Amino acid sequence: MCGIVGITGTKQAVSVLINGLERLEYRGYDSAGIYVNDQTGQDYLVKRAGRIANLKSALTPEIQGSAGIGHTRWATHGVPNEINAHPQYSADERFYLVHNGVIENFEQLKQEYLADVKFQSQTDTEVVVQLIDRFVVDYEMDTKSAFLKVLHLISDDSSYAFVLMDRQTPDTLYVSKNKSPLLVGVGDGFNMVASDAVAMLKETHNFMEIEDREVVIVKPSGVVIRDFDGNEMKRDTFRVDMDASAADKGTYPFYMLKEVDEQPVVMRKLVQEYLDTDGSPVIEPELLSRMQQADKLYVVGAGTSYHAGLIGARLFERLTGIPTQVFISSEFAYEQPIMSKKPFFIFLTQSGETADSREVLVNVKKQGWPTLTITNVPKSTLSREATFTLLLHAGPEIAVASTKAYTAQVALQAILAKGLGMAMRKQLAIDFDVKQQLGLVAVGMQAIVDSKDQLESVAARYLAQPRNAFYIGRGIDWSVALESALKLKEISYVQAEGFASGELKHGTIALIEDKTPVIGIITQDRTAGLTRSNLQEVVSRGASVLTIASKHLAQPDDTIVLPDVDELLTPLLSVVPAQLLAYYTSLGKGLDVDKPRNLAKSVTVQ
Ligand code: F6R
Repeated sequence: MCGIVGITGTKQAVSVLINGLERLEYRGYDSAGIYVNDQTGQDYLVKRAGRIANLKSALTPEIQGSAGIGHTRWATHGVPNEINAHPQYSADERFYLVHNGVIENFEQLKQEYLADVKFQSQTDTEVVVQLIDRFVVDYEMDTKSAFLKVLHLISDDSSYAFVLMDRQTPDTLYVSKNKSPLLVGVGDGFNMVASDAVAMLKETHNFMEIEDREVVIVKPSGVVIRDFDGNEMKRDTFRVDMDASAADKGTYPFYMLKEVDEQPVVMRKLVQEYLDTDGSPVIEPELLSRMQQADKLYVVGAGTSYHAGLIGARLFERLTGIPTQVFISSEFAYEQPIMSKKPFFIFLTQSGETADSREVLVNVKKQGWPTLTITNVPKSTLSREATFTLLLHAGPEIAVASTKAYTAQVALQAILAKGLGMAMRKQLAIDFDVKQQLGLVAVGMQAIVDSKDQLESVAARYLAQPRNAFYIGRGIDWSVALESALKLKEISYVQAEGFASGELKHGTIALIEDKTPVIGIITQDRTAGLTRSNLQEVVSRGASVLTIASKHLAQPDDTIVLPDVDELLTPLLSVVPAQLLAYYTSLGKGLDVDKPRNLAKSVTVQ
């Protein structure tokens, strides 16, 4: 939520900032702004409500500088307008600040220190920048000390990534973070900071982590990191070899379509990364041993990642025999259930930054339990803070609606469950040929993404008009129904829900009207007949029924027929038509598929 970028040094800051913000727009797109300083006394602040395109069109050639900060916002405090856009600045226009996060005690700080100040915005961020100014101007502190003092006054439960500029030291970026992501980019003659490496890849491939509650001084000539007690911290740089174009749309109209199409490649990449030539998982022995000692696996995630966890739980229970339960992270965080004696936690998070999931991780770490983060983003917060990490290797996922990260999460959990089951000498795991099956999945996915025309016309015919729609299924198909409904609602705004098909008759069936679309997912031998009966019940009440069925269970009237794969892995195929139906419904309505209203990709506030 909110994207931040800053640069100081030899580069033209404006173009670097705008390029960086465009890469970060997935983090929020309510408003955007930049502040640049040309080091000779000239500086410029430009802010606009709405997308970065609005900001770009407000830029004129004289707006130039070699140091600057930029921000793209997902509003928390204050409506998304130009005044509330960042950078926020002090009344004397000396200090400029961009912020990602929430300052929980901002009202208290305002009353205690700034009761006489007239605020122009409704943001918590303005309080911070005005307070820094107060300590510098009224208490004659230097900027670094004032910044540190304010950081101390901010309550521990607050989240922030800050980049501050002072007109009087215009080549310096004052930086700090707590719970929100921020990374240093190290260049030749310049240095940068940003919320995500993708915002800096055009300029550098060398990065440096920032830990929570450190103060970082970034100048063109170097970067100095200190903890809050003033001790200098040594930090190595690391290289990210990803090509900047990996985060480009290429010829695709939207990232989501590109990411759906990439899924077969992601499956093959996971096979390559995690399975040896004879198909045995290559997983750190220490991780398997810690998992084996567990009496229960706790899988934690939010949104689509939670849905991937629902599939994972079935895989772990089936292949390892270890009881597994899945939790929505924001629920677990505030109401920890009665725990088993030896829990092992698995965090699923594409971004590795989701605040709700991190809250759980921090709490369970305090209780001394082992943790694994499965994420797409190396060095992300949840990856760094967990005992173990497994990477999804899905490449950058930019569209707000998650697609390839979901299938990668399911596939990687299958590999892990196989590895763990084999270590426990479970026959089902030994017999489960995950390598061959993921090969079949990749081929099957390709066949589905190649049938886009059919899915586009199904979407136009059945999903363009209705107010609501339902996905139904049983067991693993129900878990996919939940994810399919989320995809449809978040990008097309159709009120869509996923239901256990047996539950319909216990209430939901009252919602069925003439032509309400009901999409049945049928991939499991044991439940296929029952789901088909439930579909008949809604047909009798006027619903327009569509079906997504595995080939060996298919009937002549089925809408979409999936190639056959092992029953445990059918979600990897059945979700793909649902992703494309959501995509084409959104496209048909002329909506911004990649940036649905009110959402942001990386949800770093609770
Ligand atoms: C929906 C979607 C979200 C995320 C959720 C968790 O398409 O992407 O529901 O899955 O915000 O995000 P991560 O996986 O980054 O923790």
